Amino acid sequence: MHIQKDIQLKPFNTLNLHSIASDYAKIDSIQALTAALDYAEQHQLNSLILSGGSNMLLPEHIHALVLHIDIQGVEILEDSSNHITIRVGAGQVWHDFVLMTTSKGWYGLQNLALIPGLVGASPVQNIGAYGVEVGEFIESVQVYDRHNKVTQNIKGIDCQFAYRDSIFKHDPNRYVITHVTFRLLRRPELRLNYGDLKAAIGDDLTPENLQRQVIRIRQNKLPDPKEYPNVGSFFKNPVIVQTDFDQLLTKFPQIPHYPQPQGCVKIAAGWLIDQTGWKGKKLGAVGMFEKQALVLVNYANASLSEVKHTYQAVQKDVKQRFNIQLEPEPVLFDTNGFIRSHSE
Ligand code: EPU
Repeated sequence: MHIQKDIQLKPFNTLNLHSIASDYAKIDSIQALTAALDYAEQHQLNSLILSGGSNMLLPEHIHALVLHIDIQGVEILEDSSNHITIRVGAGQVWHDFVLMTTSKGWYGLQNLALIPGLVGASPVQNIGAYGVEVGEFIESVQVYDRHNKVTQNIKGIDCQFAYRDSIFKHDPNRYVITHVTFRLLRRPELRLNYGDLKAAIGDDLTPENLQRQVIRIRQNKLPDPKEYPNVGSFFKNPVIVQTDFDQLLTKFPQIPHYPQPQGCVKIAAGWLIDQTGWKGKKLGAVGMFEKQALVLVNYANASLSEVKHTYQAVQKDVKQRFNIQLEPEPVLFDTNGFIRSHSE
């Protein structure tokens, strides 16, 4: 374990925010992790977990130890005619992992192809796309608990997976995810309930084609972070109660919406933003993408304060028009490397 000083995190966050970390270490094992955490304690530093950097908002200076997770490995724990159980290092690249599962005949994750980031971050916000959420396929998550200083396994059912949410978001400065154990299918079961996908897949009902079509749809709509720095959807799709939704529907009958459990309704934030005229619009160097209004793009080396300026202007316009408060999806860090609420 080697601690480096004053490291530029710009290449490690997909929004390309300039951010200098006072202390930084690459972590390739649980031993390296505990050694780094000891160092942080001795130097009275908080530790910030950096994964693929595709869902984070970083300040210009961070006085903390940044732990860049690079734990590799895919291990088969159990293989039967119906299921396979595999334990995967948190540092594996998510998309490469999905491609590998498909090529091996391990099914379930095909709808989640091309999502940026690493395996270890996938349970945190329960990544989801095209009718599938990763939590459905997670058997357990191995973590290092920074409070109790122990390694532990949290069962999938105890992770409280919900729409872009999990236990890891509720207690954000506590757990470091080191491995994720997935239980995948050995026989294909295609999930085609998402509109665009059913049309795209046609008659070739194979997991390989499903994965290909997901990749194609994403490439058509979502900007490549290498070209247009972004963090995917910038806001969550708001979930509101039925009575509020009924009122909204009388004013805006064409609003895209999806019924949820417990009498709630999820609304397409991209549509709300689009309606306020923000699609393809910029404020300074930061704007909402021209093909998908839900994606915020850093067009020219903007800082976090410029990003905030733009997204708060979007929030204000949506609030004014629809009386809905949009909640940002990426995680916001303060200058001591602690996760902060967007509303503070
Ligand atoms: N829409 C517009 N204008 C826009 C964008 C969207 O009118 O500029 C409308 C679309 O026409 C559609 C609806 O809004 O009727 C929903 O749009 P879309 O299908 O593109 O999906 P989304 O709700 O914008 C969510 C996820 C994506 C995920 C897709 C597909 C969230 C916050 N986002 O986007 O996830 O890929 O569904 O399942 O839930 C991410 O989290 O980073 C992400 C990309």
